[in-house]
Amino acid sequence: MNDIQEMMRRQYPGATWADIARRDGELPPVLAQQANPEQNLRDIPFARYTDPAFFDLEMERMWKRVWQFACREEHVADVGDWFVYDLGRLSVVIVRTEGGLKAYPNSCLHRGTKLKPSGGSGWSESLRCSFHNWEWNLDGSLKNIPCSFEFPQLSREKACLPQVRVESWNGMIFVNFDTDAPALTDYLEVLPDHFANWDLTGWYVATHVRKHLPANWKVALEAFMEAYHTPYVHPEMTNVVGDQNMQHDIFSDHISRDLCAMAVSSPTSTANLTQQQLLDMMLVADGAMVGERAQVPEGKTARWVMAEQLRTQMLEQHGLDYSGHSVPEMIDSLKYHVFPNMLLYPAPGLCLIQQFRPDGHDHDHAIFDQYVLFPRPRDGNFEVGEAEVITEHESFTKAPSMDKFLASVLDQDTDIMRWQREGMYASAKGAETLSIYQEARIRHMHDTLDKYIARDGSAELAK
Ligand code: FES
Ligand SMILES: [Fe+2]
Repeated sequence: MNDIQEMMRRQYPGATWADIARRDGELPPVLAQQANPEQNLRDIPFARYTDPAFFDLEMERMWKRVWQFACREEHVADVGDWFVYDLGRLSVVIVRTEGGLKAYPNSCLHRGTKLKPSGGSGWSESLRCSFHNWEWNLDGSLKNIPCSFEFPQLSREKACLPQVRVESWNGMIFVNFDTDAPALTDYLEVLPDHFANWDLTGWYVATHVRKHLPANWKVALEAFMEAYHTPYVHPEMTNVVGDQNMQHDIFSDHISRDLCAMAVSSPTSTANLTQQQLLDMMLVADGAMVGERAQVPEGKTARWVMAEQLRTQMLEQHGLDYSGHSVPEMIDSLKYHVFPNMLLYPAPGLCLIQQFRPDGHDHDHAIFDQYVLFPRPRDGNFEVGEAEVITEHESFTKAPSMDKFLASVLDQDTDIMRWQREGMYASAKGAETLSIYQEARIRHMHDTLDKYIARDGSAELAK
């Protein structure tokens, strides 16, 4: 145990996430780990969010070199299925072919027109440009050019679609614009080991909500990387969520996580609820999963009841056996950050993906996608949730699939982002000061970002 971990234990005696989780039973080795390396406690300049020149550096040196979550396997399940992943001004068409997944820059080799619409998905027999009808086979080879006798300078090989790296892991598809990038599984570092108990290939995107946000992509992402703000922005959650006593771990450049206990009160709460009251108040997403309200038996906890109910439901409805999974593995908010753009929550009680990226070439706007995953029905019949798009000024309650309570929580998070962005521009201090534990992963993300930016020599704006 290092000094930072010791400090948290002293601050929350018997009430750190690990203390709470250990009271449920023995922790699996992956969840028993704690990783809090020492950091340089520098302030983070707001220019990293507000300066278009820094945004350009990020785009060139980071975004074009990292593996980034694009979509799920079920988005491109059958040969001919395509899905467009947009990043700033870049755009990629991911296609399922006879030979597996392919990804192509979404740009015609004739005069550049986008081959498929941004934000779109669908099925087609080939990739055909809507301007002059140049057409490619799904494998990227040229199929047809109208009046081809007019292009003697173009060989068939030269007319193949260029490729973007595409690989998949655990049902998730990632792309990388860098042809020299390491393999995805190397990039994911400890993640495959940590997910040995969480096979998400048998799950599917049941709902997908996309919101356009008035803030830099890092402002948006960072709001979901700490629960320091929870008692003040989401006071209604403090009864049932362990927020400021959450566990944060930094494993490697690309992977960090937070572990947040459900059905326990925040250290800031004075409510002193009984286990029955905690169970009755579980309102957030996993509340919908546990079904009918139950009584907490003598000597048991709300967390135990929720985990038991969920295990029964998973077995009866989906044939999934979670008897070997611990209580926290069932019901807690276990959230992994995969640098740069993905938060992945694997627990069956709260299984989702959140994705953050720049919205066009605009450092002040971001796209936030939230994919809620459900187990695939046993009969194999399911519809992949289509994107429900919410504009910058609309509430999450506009999305029909969105749970009303969750929608109000997300509105609180996204409303504050505009204030933060505007305040960054209004700042005399010009930098943010992060806490050493709860916000350490935000600092770590900036450290990793700097490593990418520094790769082509020193970058004055990065420091
Ligand atoms: S721009 Fe695509 S066919 Fe002309
Ligand atoms: Fe929040």
